[in-house]
Amino acid sequence: MTDVLAVAGSARRGGNSDAVLEAALDALRRRGANVQTIVPRRLSINPCSACNGCWETGYCVVKDDMQDLYVRFSEVDHVVVASPLYFTSLPGHLKVLIDRFQCFWVRTYRLGEPPQPRRTGMFLCVGAMAKELYFDCTLRIVRTWMASLNMGCPVTRFYSGVDEKDDLIKNHPEYLEDARAAALELLDGAHR
Ligand SMILES: Cc1cc2nc3c(=O)[nH]c(=O)nc-3n(C[C@H](O)[C@H](O)[C@H](O)COP(=O)(O)O)c2cc1C
Repeated sequence: MTDVLAVAGSARRGGNSDAVLEAALDALRRRGANVQTIVPRRLSINPCSACNGCWETGYCVVKDDMQDLYVRFSEVDHVVVASPLYFTSLPGHLKVLIDRFQCFWVRTYRLGEPPQPRRTGMFLCVGAMAKELYFDCTLRIVRTWMASLNMGCPVTRFYSGVDEKDDLIKNHPEYLEDARAAALELLDGAHR
């Protein structure tokens, strides 16, 4: 069975990024995938303190919810991230989680450990503004993070023009259909 870890990046629940995420996850479940979702805002994750405690071992010395997430991110077949743009970037809770993957970067680039098996991820991004540049900046962050897991991010979508919590459902139902299609692209590996 295909295991998928979904990341609901927004600070608010039930909004636009959650809507496209749920559509994508529904498509994945219908194809038999085992899907689990994490919400960074609900977890106890401290920011990376740049203590370099991971330099010797490749393991983070900070004991919080990340210890469980390191295992889960390592074991799944796909990661699906849905997030709004916040100031041309990601919401703080999600960025804090991402920074804590520095220890994975250390394993590969400082300690020379063999990479994890190659896997793929997907990024669904929503924003109020139709500015591709904002999305491009954010996508670069997501791709750099996923690279630390030896994960490509070939399936990406930017759903613009949504701001109020129910904007997407009310005014852009076509985005939901597109998110489902994106999820199937990820499963089918059409991009490889
Ligand atoms: C702190 C903050 C910063 C934001 N910055 C941007 C931005 O830089 N570009 C943009 O297009 N939208 C920005 N927005 C709007 C959100 O991306 C938009 O409301 C989105 O639909 C929220 O998604 P959600 O419903 O999943 O939370 C920002 C919203 C907040 C709360």
